[in-house]
Amino acid sequence: MDLRPKCHVETYGCQMNENDSEILLAYLEELGYESIPSVQDADVVLLNTCCVRESAEDKVYGKLGELKLLKAERPELVIGIAGCMTQQPGVGPALAKRYPYVNLVMGTHNLHRFPELFLHARTAQTTVVDVAAEPEEMPIFPRGVREGGVTAWVTILRGCDKRCTYCIVPYVRGREMSRPLREIRSEVESLVRDGVREVTLLGQNVNAYGKDLPGAESFATLIAELDKVDGLERVRYTTSHPRDFTQEMIDAIASSRKVCEHFHVPVQSGSPHMLKRMARGYTRERYVDLIERIRRTVPEASITTDLIVGFPGETESDFEETLDLCRQLRFDKSFTFMFSPRRGTPAAAFPEQIPLAVKKERLGRLIEVTDALSLEANRRQIGKTVEVLCEGVSKKNGQRLMGRTRLNQPVVFPGVAEQAGQLAAVRIASVNTWTLEGEAV
Ligand code: SAM
Ligand code: SF4
Ligand code: F3S
Repeated sequence: MDLRPKCHVETYGCQMNENDSEILLAYLEELGYESIPSVQDADVVLLNTCCVRESAEDKVYGKLGELKLLKAERPELVIGIAGCMTQQPGVGPALAKRYPYVNLVMGTHNLHRFPELFLHARTAQTTVVDVAAEPEEMPIFPRGVREGGVTAWVTILRGCDKRCTYCIVPYVRGREMSRPLREIRSEVESLVRDGVREVTLLGQNVNAYGKDLPGAESFATLIAELDKVDGLERVRYTTSHPRDFTQEMIDAIASSRKVCEHFHVPVQSGSPHMLKRMARGYTRERYVDLIERIRRTVPEASITTDLIVGFPGETESDFEETLDLCRQLRFDKSFTFMFSPRRGTPAAAFPEQIPLAVKKERLGRLIEVTDALSLEANRRQIGKTVEVLCEGVSKKNGQRLMGRTRLNQPVVFPGVAEQAGQLAAVRIASVNTWTLEGEAV
């Protein structure tokens, strides 16, 4: 039996936050804790929070309510809140006041100082609040603790220098800071030694990678470097900003053997007017041209996107332009959101906010179109033999395996658990909107 004290880290938000949670777990492991999947038996519970939409914050508030009951039963329980939510101006101290049973409130900029903050908070009589300003340089982080498996996240760039008028991320994640290329390469090599076969490079805008570094590093040189890592089969990356997606990058991706043919390029809206008010820095024509160039260079490419409905001032005809763009470009998959006003961002103060009922109605209509397109994209795979990286036994069906195609579509297919980490040739037999069903060949 493992006698170490237990910790549980709960993650809200994007992949970047998931990777940060893995780093928090690395620190906790160094301090002697064992990670467990449930809150109930934990001695330490950390919430790594997100504030990109109100719904993300509501989930955290709900969890804090639950933890209050647990703390009443077990006063020695240590509770911490980290991540983007606490980094918003004034929010850290307000949380400490409203939830006095929380031991630690920290932000995103002091992640590297977690061990010292945590040890202090563990014994302090009152809540320790530390939401520091951004550091001058990118701190060095330990490699995160993963659950195992053959895929891993690797953060290459922190922060965001864009100022999309709806978005809180630049305010809570600070300016763009790239990790040195050799540090990324050595992390990837060490992951591969542990059995990882696919890495996903993370940043709010990976195309900006290297701009702040002293040398000639760029996203293109980074992927060329990772192509040389023996034992690594696939490289993915997310997210790329349409404005900074150069032809050089498309060519670099096309000529790399490992980078997958999946392009996640969030467009947000099909209305030129909304794109301007969102300050995205591209027009509808330029976006369409980008997608056409990607398809010309990488004909099998899968293109996925993010879409927001109900941005302030969005008329029915603006919204229809978004539907029209989806049909025109036939996105393979879309992540769809209702605009959520974020305090301190320009769009939250724009006049002509759209009523919730209208946002819901538009979201429903949008999902109908985007789901139909996803189904169509999946149907195009029927009868084809595709390369699948086996991730392990399917959670829904213990008799079958789960993996992903290079285009990032999940596939369920027959096989044995020992195949995890291997590439398999799978013939796609049937599909639905979300998954492909395959037979081994
Ligand atoms: N950096 C990425 C980019 O520019 O595409 C994405 C960052 S954000 C974590 C992921 C998605 O959340 C965005 O692409 C956008 O669609 C959505 N999002 C961001 N702020 C939002 C808001 N205030 N309301 C609704 N959706 C939002
Ligand atoms: Fe937010 Fe825009 Fe930065 Fe993406 S690029 S994180 S949407 S500000
Ligand atoms: Fe949320 Fe922060 Fe990511 S606000 S989406 S966790 S960068």
